[in-house]
Amino acid sequence: MDVNSASLQIIADLLRARTGQHLGTGRMWRIPGALSGIFREHDISNVDQLVCLLAEPRAEKLARDVVEALLNNETYFFRDKVMFDMLAEQVLPKLWQQRANQRSLRVWSAGCSSGQELYSIAMLLLAQRERWAGWKLELIGTDISHKIITAARQGCFSQFEVQRGLTVAQMLGYFDQKDEGWCPQAELRKMVTFREHNLLDRPPVEGPFDLVLCRNVLLYFDPLTRGRVFDRLREGIAVDGLLMLGAGETVVGQTERFVPARDGSGLYLPQSQASEPARRRA
Ligand SMILES: C[S@@+](CC[C@H](N)C(=O)[O-])C[C@H]1O[C@@H](n2cnc3c(N)ncnc32)[C@H](O)[C@@H]1O
Repeated sequence: MDVNSASLQIIADLLRARTGQHLGTGRMWRIPGALSGIFREHDISNVDQLVCLLAEPRAEKLARDVVEALLNNETYFFRDKVMFDMLAEQVLPKLWQQRANQRSLRVWSAGCSSGQELYSIAMLLLAQRERWAGWKLELIGTDISHKIITAARQGCFSQFEVQRGLTVAQMLGYFDQKDEGWCPQAELRKMVTFREHNLLDRPPVEGPFDLVLCRNVLLYFDPLTRGRVFDRLREGIAVDGLLMLGAGETVVGQTERFVPARDGSGLYLPQSQASEPARRRA
């Protein structure tokens, strides 16, 4: 291994230690490109020099910036639209029946990036507003990235972002065009909250969620870490709740905490285990 690949490995190890995200040797070529902004900002000429700076005392902010720059935050509204159609037509109506006594619904978008996924759910609920009138709706989005959660909280989207996944009717019906961009109208904005959270840690709030989306996040965890994340997700979900993964993700062969829903829809059910405390929503 020459000096440069050793430095790439050190950067990949930093990312893995802090987030669980694994950059295998086949993906390490991404590092210099992803860090180009940091190189410019700190007048750094290459990865070797960056590694030397990271070894200095008080390099914590630089380390955080490096990790942030290496995270893949790709997202858009109603990503994999067929899944959102299924949520609107089957899953939300079923949860409405299941939770009719409590009239409360809790949704967690885990690894939410800049919030488009959670806002998509909120728009589905608003489109069925009569059904959900009088319900307590808690929609929480979490991500490990401070930068991306700050953006999600500010909540305004560029023209490019709203054009990815929203119809014109949705853009005009749920967002206002302002100097900052396309900003969610108050009714939509107040439905969602965002917070920083690492999926390797315990769930972000007490009490189980009815629906957890963890989409396009697990792909870059190694199998052991992925298993740990499934354990954490299982802790956060009601025994009769649902987990939705991304199109290229599955629980099969990865964990015994969840099983595929019988209809093969890409939804997963918590595996009930006699030893686990029942966390069915009372
Ligand atoms: C590709 S985006 C997916 C966003 C959204 N779920 C979607 O499917 O459109 C993956 C997100 O997972 C976040 N992430 C990566 N590792 C994480 C971890 N250990 N804990 C929480 N979030 C993490 C990244 O910061 C990124 O915003």
